[in-house]
Amino acid sequence: MPNPGQALVSILSMAHIPCKVLIISPVPRDRFFQDERWTAGVIGLGYVGLPLLLTAIKKGLGGIGFDISQELVDALNAGRSHIDDVSDEELEKALADGVEFTTDPGRLGEADALFICVPSPLGRNRQPDLSYIEAAAETVQRVVRPGQLVSLESTSYPGTTEDFVLPAIERAGFKLDTDEVYLAFSPERVSPGEDLKTGQIPKVVGGVTVESGRIAEIAYKRIVPAVHLVSSARAAEMTKLIENTYRAVNIGLVNEIAQLAHELDIDIWEVIDAAATKPFGFQAFYPGPGVGGHCIPLDPQYLSWRAREANFATRFIDTAEQVNVQMPLYNVTRISDLLNERGFPVFGTEVLGVGISYKANIADDRESASIEVLRGLAKRGAQVSVLDPLVGDDRIRSHGFNPVSADDDLGRFAIAAVLTDHSGVDYERIAREVPVVYDARGVYRRLGLKFDNVVPL
Ligand SMILES: NC(=O)c1ccc[n+]([C@@H]2O[C@H](COP(=O)([O-])OP(=O)(O)OC[C@H]3O[C@@H](n4cnc5c(N)ncnc54)[C@H](O)[C@@H]3O)[C@@H](O)[C@H]2O)c1
Repeated sequence: MPNPGQALVSILSMAHIPCKVLIISPVPRDRFFQDERWTAGVIGLGYVGLPLLLTAIKKGLGGIGFDISQELVDALNAGRSHIDDVSDEELEKALADGVEFTTDPGRLGEADALFICVPSPLGRNRQPDLSYIEAAAETVQRVVRPGQLVSLESTSYPGTTEDFVLPAIERAGFKLDTDEVYLAFSPERVSPGEDLKTGQIPKVVGGVTVESGRIAEIAYKRIVPAVHLVSSARAAEMTKLIENTYRAVNIGLVNEIAQLAHELDIDIWEVIDAAATKPFGFQAFYPGPGVGGHCIPLDPQYLSWRAREANFATRFIDTAEQVNVQMPLYNVTRISDLLNERGFPVFGTEVLGVGISYKANIADDRESASIEVLRGLAKRGAQVSVLDPLVGDDRIRSHGFNPVSADDDLGRFAIAAVLTDHSGVDYERIAREVPVVYDARGVYRRLGLKFDNVVPL
């Protein structure tokens, strides 16, 4: 909590009154973040921000969540979660433990650490859209006060924290360290639908100054099980990008090899399973409809964009992107070929898409390659229906597809395409009722289900 002097600075800066007052905190900041019950302020309450805030509450800290969406804040205050990995019960418990959700940025002045978790999408022409980070930095400028740690968690190119957040702190009249304001970057690594949640995943932290890194490390240790401190915010920013670029490149590699394997009449799934028996030096990645979600298709583009600025060509990233981006079309071709072999035109034929979210066991369908595949078939005139136990019917209709429920008759479909491998789907029944099943996820092999009419990617 702020001391009275800090609160004064906070009020003045919210009123845009320049205030260069140096207030020495009663407790040194390292001891404060290590021992006291401090308050986490989270800017942006989406897939990253909300779990982070609730994890801080679970660890006994105070919490204020700020978002620009009034609708979202009202829902959260009413105990309704919009995130797969956060249940309503968990949210209600956090509300009972004192978490507060607000659209009033002024409340962030009460927080001791500010965590920026706003979107960092690609804009038109697939260039980084940094407008959300810029807007969040402006919010920081209005509320920042001595004693506060500011940490950017949004994924972005190396240099973002120094380019956007540091100037905002300086415009507010503060110098890092000397004015007891600290600035760091710490990438979020959570992956929706996975067993490991925010509070269980080690964090990488890098400060804009050495002291900022040290303070951020101490603060994060109160929230997550382990912190790996790197020497700079730029190193931490780059860490996130290499993690996701590694995935994008390896998925691109296996997507390309899968196409070759099909030409050579070799089962790629059998080959990957065989290679994965090697106890070292090989990590299994699997082919599919393409890459989706808000990380894998986007993050490498932040790196290649920054590389272009430095006149550097990121050839692996670009090649992987080319392969991954054309995977939906490759899947459309494979499905069309299967129909053709059985005497069906794509035009007018009933096709069942199984799963449209971007990965298994989540309801999030943003940037989903599965949807791209079905759009490609619809464009060629197919009548596309979707069975997805997690994505709501309205959402399915919004993409132009007909929702199908688990107990509907599946006999009318000429083909089913498994595009997202949710558990809780009756794959056996689909293979029994639909004449041919195209399995883009290798789910039948994984479940040990053997059907002659199932054709893997
Ligand atoms: N979703 C993931 O799995 C994941 C994983 C790791 C990292 N990330 C990264 O984390 C960041 C956040 O992603 P997300 O998935 O949580 O986004 P999200 O879209 O789920 O949530 C972002 C929230 O920020 C709010 N917001 C936008 N501008 C704001 C502003 N100026 N002030 C306050 N709130 C604002 C939005 O209303 C929204 O509620 C991105 O950089 C993303 O790349 C995401």
